[in-house]
Amino acid sequence: MSQPQDILSPITDAAIFLTVCVDPGGEETVKDLLADVPGLKRSVGFRIPEGGLACVVGIGSGLWDRMLGPPKPAGLHPFKELRGETHAAPSTPGDLFFHIRATRMDMCFELAQLLNDRLEGVARVVDEVHGFKSFDERDLLGFVDGTENPEPYEAPAAALVGEEEPGFEGGSYLIVQKYLHDLTAWNRLTVEDQEQAFGRTKLDDVEFPDEDKASNSHLVLNVIEDENGEERQIMRFNMPFGRVGEAEFGTYFIGYAGDVGVTELMLERMFIGVPPGNHDRILDFSTAITGSLFFVPSAEFLDGLEDAGAPADPADASDPPAPAEGGEPDAGSLGIGNART
Ligand code: HEM
Repeated sequence: MSQPQDILSPITDAAIFLTVCVDPGGEETVKDLLADVPGLKRSVGFRIPEGGLACVVGIGSGLWDRMLGPPKPAGLHPFKELRGETHAAPSTPGDLFFHIRATRMDMCFELAQLLNDRLEGVARVVDEVHGFKSFDERDLLGFVDGTENPEPYEAPAAALVGEEEPGFEGGSYLIVQKYLHDLTAWNRLTVEDQEQAFGRTKLDDVEFPDEDKASNSHLVLNVIEDENGEERQIMRFNMPFGRVGEAEFGTYFIGYAGDVGVTELMLERMFIGVPPGNHDRILDFSTAITGSLFFVPSAEFLDGLEDAGAPADPADASDPPAPAEGGEPDAGSLGIGNART
């Protein structure tokens, strides 16, 4: 399999989540930057090897079309908005996503700065979240988050695209959502009611027996199986964030999957409910304010972008670009594949 980006690197104490929108015409600059991301990561990370710096970059559907054209990963499309009877998962803009992790925030920050410098004039950061590790991997609702992630031997199969998508092996479908919690209302619940909402104990993080789990608990709605009874998993690296003065208490949800349909089914079960109307109880205290889907290509794919460049502007080329087969020349074409807008 192609080498993936640093998706499956260990849990860290700090992370920066950057969502970026790219201006029309910025595609070539972005392509150059993407090929350089591993080098920029080394510039920051090599000096402090124990910092475990990792950077994963994802590409949104619209930018993929504009910058790379076909072939396109089969599951890459704009994030599908969900409207349940009570709660909604909005779809918000995002062309590029950077998931930067390290044991130290200074390393994440420096890399974010370098990336942002390279995007100046061609792209804007539309959402920036600085996540931190809270005690023993707890979210701000007070529960340990990440326990049931796939074990290391299962993680590649859950998180990475396999040979079912030739050309995109080692890639991953990344869904991110920014949630804000109503901690005042949550803290009015008894600990027993909070535990029912998740289906696990709060202090020692033990899963309830199946017969004791509520049908609207987070666990019941997120444990899904295929037709052979095999559990379908994703890899989550959620992190808390917030600002006490603004009463902002959040969870940044970030889930990698080899099959985007798995994460989408989880979301559908949470927001629409099973049966419809029986939504995830944690949504009564957690509001999704962003939602985006990205494809995280393999490390080799990123590396290859350096050579994929053709002049974006036909004026730069000595010969006018040849028309695409069966089509007219496209003045805005990158000259690679069949770029669409
Ligand atoms: C407010 C946002 C969220 C919070 C605070 C949250 C928190 C948690 C916690 C505390 C657990 C139990 C421990 C663990 O196994 O990690 C859990 C499990 C899980 N969550 Fe979430 N989660 C959130 C959103 C989501 C979303 C949006 C998805 C899927 C799209 C998701 C999928 C899962 C899965 C698959 C499990 C493991 C279930 C199992 O195998 O037992 N979570 N989450």
